[in-house]
Amino acid sequence: FLTPAVLDEDALYGRAVVVVDVLRASTTIVTALENGARAVIPVADKGEAGRLAASLDADVSLLGGERGGERIPGYQAGNSPLEYTPEAVAGRTVVLTTTNGTAAMARARSAADLAVGAFTNADAAAAFLRRALDAGRPAAVLCAGSEGRVSLEDTLCAGLLVTRVVGAEAAAGLSDSVQIASALYRGSESRLARTIFGARHTQRLIELGHADDVAFAARIDASDGLPVFRDSRFVLDKR
Ligand code: MLT
Repeated sequence: FLTPAVLDEDALYGRAVVVVDVLRASTTIVTALENGARAVIPVADKGEAGRLAASLDADVSLLGGERGGERIPGYQAGNSPLEYTPEAVAGRTVVLTTTNGTAAMARARSAADLAVGAFTNADAAAAFLRRALDAGRPAAVLCAGSEGRVSLEDTLCAGLLVTRVVGAEAAAGLSDSVQIASALYRGSESRLARTIFGARHTQRLIELGHADDVAFAARIDASDGLPVFRDSRFVLDKR
């Protein structure tokens, strides 16, 4: 699914789903968990995120998030993966709210299994999808996109995942969305970073001084961590 806007109510029901928001919620969640956060609780609504964080022990929680790409006033962190260092997050539960990423995660609650995918953990996310398909269960990738629109970086990442899971030839027999993502990825593979840097959201992040986040998010397979959704929060898969 290239954007949550195309989901009907039951579209993800019973599936193994990877939510992708390369810039930057997926990359931030992978990084926070890799750096020792106990869990990341994704919350779509800003007010709800604030209330939830206030109900947690301040010593072991951290409220992070953005609107319009900028840290929400009063929050301890924004949505830059580079802020979620071991010093900032080890042992803490992160409450995270973002414009598109956590909203897409909220839309995916009917999934049988839910995980977070990014370029940085592509191999782990592809393995999650492959395990589901090998077990005869339906799987899907949900791109967060941008306010209902398709985004280049999420579609590229989805293309990488489906190409790794089913291969380019098999992708040709699947849905148009799968074929679009797979063809886009394969056509851009040799100049992936340059293509990501051309994306609209990349340009916005550069204007806001976050070019480093884009370079960080473009590192394929930098991590083998897989955030999986358990008890309303993402934790690192212990597989
Ligand atoms: C989002 O959820 O819309 C993004 O992660 C925005 C961002 O912080 O770059």
